[in-house]
Amino acid sequence: MPIGSHQSAAAGTDVWLTPPALLAALGGAESFDLDPCAPLDRPWDMARQHYTIADNGLARPWHGRVWLNPPYSNNVIGRWMGRMAEHAHGIALIFARTETQVFHECVWRAADALLFMEGRLHFHDAAGTRAKANAGAPSVFCAYGADDADRLAASGIPGAFVPLRLRSLIFGFASVGSWVDEVLKVMQRAGAAVRLDDLYRALAENPKSERNPNWKAKVRQTLQRGPFEPLGEGVWQVAEGRLL
Ligand SMILES: C[S@@+](CC[C@H](N)C(=O)[O-])C[C@H]1O[C@@H](n2cnc3c(N)ncnc32)[C@H](O)[C@@H]1O
Repeated sequence: MPIGSHQSAAAGTDVWLTPPALLAALGGAESFDLDPCAPLDRPWDMARQHYTIADNGLARPWHGRVWLNPPYSNNVIGRWMGRMAEHAHGIALIFARTETQVFHECVWRAADALLFMEGRLHFHDAAGTRAKANAGAPSVFCAYGADDADRLAASGIPGAFVPLRLRSLIFGFASVGSWVDEVLKVMQRAGAAVRLDDLYRALAENPKSERNPNWKAKVRQTLQRGPFEPLGEGVWQVAEGRLL
């Protein structure tokens, strides 16, 4: 019986596992900090830490990058996806029921990017065996956070990638260069030497900074290593001989 059908939950199992190749394409189990709804006896890891039905992953704190392939029953998927939208860090795999209230509230209005899979998935059963039947419905990956949107775009999973947050993605794919490029751009706009504080302000919302908790140190390192020279205390310019 296809697991995308309404009968599937009633047929008695929510335990349909993500094909390991898909997890690998998204960075592998080690790259996810938590799977909050893992099977009791898992044939492989889905993340570094797992909650099972015995822990009740909905009642536990979530942390870090989350992998979520939630139980399919219609009456609980909203709670899992609501939690994911609130947590806002990681990737969820669900059926592409794009018109539903859950999809509107927890995906369209909350995710950063989607990847609609080409064809239908074959999940694996609790023992790890690939199901003979396909899932019976189309699947979509939902990325929460700019970093996961990037990973989804780069995953190579066949399908249609749809960015939902233009600001970070336009920056991310069109115009963000190396740290040297980004510092040069700020100096170019200023047309003169730049104070370190002003450089921090100009780069604070740059996607490279948003993705790097140590971005200020990275800016200082770039100034020291790149084609820049100090002009005075905390003031930097492009090194002589290097045209803006
Ligand atoms: C669709 S399967 C996905 C399994 C795994 N996350 C994966 O990606 O392969 C959903 C899993 O959620 C588990 N589950 C159901 N209710 C749960 C709960 N309250 N807390 C934690 N896990 C739960 C089921 O046992 C089942 O293994």
